[in-house]
Amino acid sequence: MRLLVLGGTVFLSHAVAAEALRRGHEVVCAARGTSGRVPDGARLVKVDREEPDGVRALAGERFDAVVDVATMSHRWVLDALRAVGADAGHWTFVSSINVYADAVTAGQDERARLHEPIAEEAPPEERIQHPYLYGAIKAASEQAVLERMGERAFIVRSGLIVGPGDVSDRFGYWPARISRGGRVAVPDAADQTTQWLDVRDLAAWIVDAGEQRLGGVFNGVGTAHRLGAFFDRTVAAVGAPDTELVPVPLPVLEAEKVEYWRGPRSMPLWMPDEDAGFCAHDNSKALAAGLRPRPAEETLRDVLADELRLGLDRDRKAGLTAAEEAELLRALEVRS
Ligand SMILES: NC(=O)c1ccc[n+]([C@@H]2O[C@H](COP(=O)([O-])OP(=O)(O)OC[C@H]3O[C@@H](n4cnc5c(N)ncnc54)[C@H](OP(=O)(O)O)[C@@H]3O)[C@@H](O)[C@H]2O)c1
Repeated sequence: MRLLVLGGTVFLSHAVAAEALRRGHEVVCAARGTSGRVPDGARLVKVDREEPDGVRALAGERFDAVVDVATMSHRWVLDALRAVGADAGHWTFVSSINVYADAVTAGQDERARLHEPIAEEAPPEERIQHPYLYGAIKAASEQAVLERMGERAFIVRSGLIVGPGDVSDRFGYWPARISRGGRVAVPDAADQTTQWLDVRDLAAWIVDAGEQRLGGVFNGVGTAHRLGAFFDRTVAAVGAPDTELVPVPLPVLEAEKVEYWRGPRSMPLWMPDEDAGFCAHDNSKALAAGLRPRPAEETLRDVLADELRLGLDRDRKAGLTAAEEAELLRALEVRS
């Protein structure tokens, strides 16, 4: 098939393009080309979606399938639909579980209530001021794709996407840290749920969907694990023999200003209780439609290999530095 990837220079969209090429498809990527390179064999059409009608370079081209990963702009989605939607055989829109209004309830499926759609665009820094804007814009973008493409629309609500090439540094913190062994500070939240999907499995399913013309709305998320079980499996898969997990009670983490989920001085994957349902979505519809998450151990080993390639001592975007972790463990001793 002839596939258009709106993106293709980084992480998921790059993995989709690479998987499609591996299967022998013709792949066109449309991006600025500033975040990275498209996979060998793909053709890059330079576009800047920030500009009005920024994808006009694609007008008149015909694609069997299109994959769009637009994050925070409803207009980008409309522009793309206008440029190539009429002739496209299939349209994947990569959305997010952030579309759901209720972040507390575990086990929600695709029928759960969404945020009120906001048909706008917003620069990423505004996500912080308006926590629901990302989900609300994704909800409006989904609606636009469904209205325009009907049964040709494949909406994938992704949760945490992990794996080689992840630029967020979140998931990789744990295999990297645990591979070094010693006393590893972990949040004392073993019963919390965590849920992720390997980028390669999501990419493969997106390419399958284009090949099979699979339509509908899906939670494209992986298997939910207890956080405690996740740490145990990480130790078993990639841990140094002297690894000792040290659960740090939540009041200590709070007092020491350790953040949840992402960013500097954080415990990645750990969530506040008010977001307990965020990493526990129902993926049964996606599994029935062919999503095949690989075993956690395989992802952990491959992510560690990627971490080693990047360098374990590099500055990270997420997690604790060695000095911050040592300080946290000292604070724990003083308090106990
Ligand atoms: N990561 C997660 O855990 C997670 C969770 C839930 C949902 N998602 C969703 O999953 C998708 C991830 O996509 P991704 O991994 O490919 O990363 P991404 O950062 O969302 O995609 C960026 C792509 O868009 C292109 N792009 C950015 N600005 C552009 C512009 N002005 N004009 C044209 N192209 C532009 C980039 O290329 P250039 O910069 O080279 O132009 C790049 O190829 C997104 O839809 C995201 O919302 C991610």
